[in-house]
Amino acid sequence: MSETIYQGLAGVNVDTTQISHIDGLKGELIYRGYDIRELANKASFEEVTYLLWNDDLPTQDQLAEFKNGLKPHYILPQEVIEVLKLMPKDTHPMHAVRTAVSMLGATDSAAEGVDLDNVHRIGLSLTAKFPSIVATFERLRNGQEAISPDPDLSIAGNFLYMLTGEKPTEAATNVMDVALVLHAEHGSNASTFVARAVASTLTDVYSSITAACGSLKGPLHGGANAAVMQALEKIGSVSKVEDYVMNILGTPGGRVMGFGHRVYRVLDPRAIILKEVSHHLAEESGDSKWFEMSLEMERVMDREMTKKGKEIKPNVDFFSASVYRMLGFPTDMYTPIFAVARISGWMAHLYEQYADNKLMRPRMVYEGPLGKSFKAINNR
Ligand SMILES: CC(C)(COP(=O)(O)OP(=O)(O)OC[C@H]1O[C@@H](n2cnc3c(N)ncnc32)[C@H](O)[C@@H]1OP(=O)(O)O)[C@@H](O)C(=O)NCCC(=O)NCCS
Repeated sequence: MSETIYQGLAGVNVDTTQISHIDGLKGELIYRGYDIRELANKASFEEVTYLLWNDDLPTQDQLAEFKNGLKPHYILPQEVIEVLKLMPKDTHPMHAVRTAVSMLGATDSAAEGVDLDNVHRIGLSLTAKFPSIVATFERLRNGQEAISPDPDLSIAGNFLYMLTGEKPTEAATNVMDVALVLHAEHGSNASTFVARAVASTLTDVYSSITAACGSLKGPLHGGANAAVMQALEKIGSVSKVEDYVMNILGTPGGRVMGFGHRVYRVLDPRAIILKEVSHHLAEESGDSKWFEMSLEMERVMDREMTKKGKEIKPNVDFFSASVYRMLGFPTDMYTPIFAVARISGWMAHLYEQYADNKLMRPRMVYEGPLGKSFKAINNR
């Protein structure tokens, strides 16, 4: 009897969840009942993180308490700063993020507990510390002093502050906040699945999040935003976009980064919002090159995919690239910024996983030989 193979686990439901829902045909992303389009315009990253970790949006008092709970965790232990100092300056910042999370686990004497209270404590700590890790490594690799966090700022505001040492404008903080909300959670994506699979062995939170960081880094997942920007930089001008895209599509297995999705068959709702943000930033800054190149890439891909009858549309990473560029971030920081947001969703999933755990252990269909007889090494 032939076994059914679900390569890449495509279409497989591994569990139920209360956290988010994606309708790939309607182009909808729902966080605990709320449409992302509404949340992105109205809720802060802290409110959304509270929502993802609890049943509903916080009241004012609940939000104040939640933010107060985050504040003491903004600061990095000195050991972690020392580890970041030891990292080669030219290493990918995701190596720094992943290593720092691992080090945080090593320095937390209560790392092991997977009861809800301990997992929540670590969740607050990691959510507050991710911006500090990314900003600290960015400064250290540029030969600058690390800046202490300002716990009176929001997660988005503090991240911008720790990069430059200057209080960010309200406009920049708002754009950052929208980007964090949009990237906070996305169901059983690769890194979230990895986090849950690792947690299903009942190992500690830090181990799960370290593994999730490694998964996010890949160019088919969170690494795609940087790959989009590298492509735009390589292309250089609107007039050269068409040739670039046609060349990739003419190469067997060629992928245009920032397009396509395992779940969406229509435009990713997050891409729609980021496209508006990118347009707005381009108009405000007078630097419309990246946005215009993105539009041209979207046009050519749309034309070519329609010809082939394929539903390959821009995903969240496509317009986030030009947005981050216009905010002034270096390209290799795009994926770490994704991690600053996604820690929120990863933790929401770890609460669910630990609360009703089943070891994740799928099977593989063996197609290799059977019945070989062992030969001593000198007879092979
Ligand atoms: C995200 C992604 C991995 C999803 O892949 P998937 O669900 O496994 O889908 P497949 O790789 O089977 O692709 C289905 C078809 O669409 C094509 N396709 C998918 N994404 C494409 C892209 N970005 N550019 C060109 N063609 C693409 C594939 O070549 C394949 O064609 P075929 O059926 O003729 O072989 C894939 O779309 C991709 O590699 N995108 C680029 C990376 C990216 O932006 N990742 C971020 C995701 S949020």
